[in-house]
Amino acid sequence: MKIFSGIQPSGVVHLGNYLGAMKNWANLQNSPAGENEAIFCVVDYHAITVDYPKDEMPQRIINAAKDILASGVDPNKSTLFLQSDIPEHTELAWLLNTITTMGELSRMTQYKDKTAKHEERAGLFDYPVLMAADIMIYKAEGVPVGEDQVQHVELTRDLVRRFNSKFGDTFPEPKPLLTEAKRVMSLSGSGKMSKSDSPSTYIAMTDEPDVIRKKISSAVTDDGQSDDISQSTINLINLYGEFAGQGEADKFMEQRKAKTIKYSEFKPALAEAIINELEPFQKRRAGVTDEEVKKIFTDGAAKLRPIAQETLKEVKEKMGLII
Ligand code: AMP
Ligand code: TRP
Repeated sequence: MKIFSGIQPSGVVHLGNYLGAMKNWANLQNSPAGENEAIFCVVDYHAITVDYPKDEMPQRIINAAKDILASGVDPNKSTLFLQSDIPEHTELAWLLNTITTMGELSRMTQYKDKTAKHEERAGLFDYPVLMAADIMIYKAEGVPVGEDQVQHVELTRDLVRRFNSKFGDTFPEPKPLLTEAKRVMSLSGSGKMSKSDSPSTYIAMTDEPDVIRKKISSAVTDDGQSDDISQSTINLINLYGEFAGQGEADKFMEQRKAKTIKYSEFKPALAEAIINELEPFQKRRAGVTDEEVKKIFTDGAAKLRPIAQETLKEVKEKMGLII
């Protein structure tokens, strides 16, 4: 299966990004029979749809690639590139704009969420069409993302169907590929883990062991005694399952049900499990240089550009734009 996914270079990668998406990227690339062809992208044109610090952007872009590589994506097995290096993405987005309605973009919940905090800009409104173009330009069939991106993949499927029926069969319908941890919750106990919230509510993949211990020790739980187990507690026990195995997590869940759980024992166990998993990630990340990233981007774009050009030519032909 042809796989495509992307991440914004927005400064920090947290456990939600890792468990919901990036860890899966490495698994999909490594599928034993080699039946997957995986493409991963740092989506800089998406990251500029809200205000951003322009001086920090070059380093953010490089760091996003380092995070992807540290998650286990191997540039010899997958292709990693920078979105703005292939201008055909934005050109296809324009063409897709002409078959996208205002109504369907207005229904995107991420737009509604983001405009609660940011200005209502055309680029932010149109963001999902660029995402559809990212996926469609490589005719990708599988899109490994977290749950918050599923609505955008559904829109992509709608655009694929519409394009195919208006202009002739061209694109496959892509499917979202979700993990067990498709929606990691915030340590504050409400809402999903998000980098736009306070740093105390998420574990960044680059957090030092002591920072992780501190954040977990102040993560919200219930009192351990009520009949109803709070969502925040379930989330922490699920997190433990991700790192220490389901069996270990089940033991703590049983204790919680029996109201015998001691958070003073559970929380340190969770913190150490996270620290263990992050150690190899952090080591790998520290071993990648900026120069290596630039070379990987150059090679990735060189490999993909002909494919993107070919799809764009086919699309323009089908739309009656080639004379
Ligand atoms: P972003 O940081 O918004 O570019 O997201 C990168 C990837 O991480 C996307 O596939 C998101 O769906 C996924 N993601 C972001 N936050 C979470 C979360 N709290 N739980 C699971 N997946 C997430
Ligand atoms: N919108 C995605 C996010 O915020 C990032 C993204 C851009 C993406 N283009 C994509 C994800 C194409 C999957 C496929 O997480």
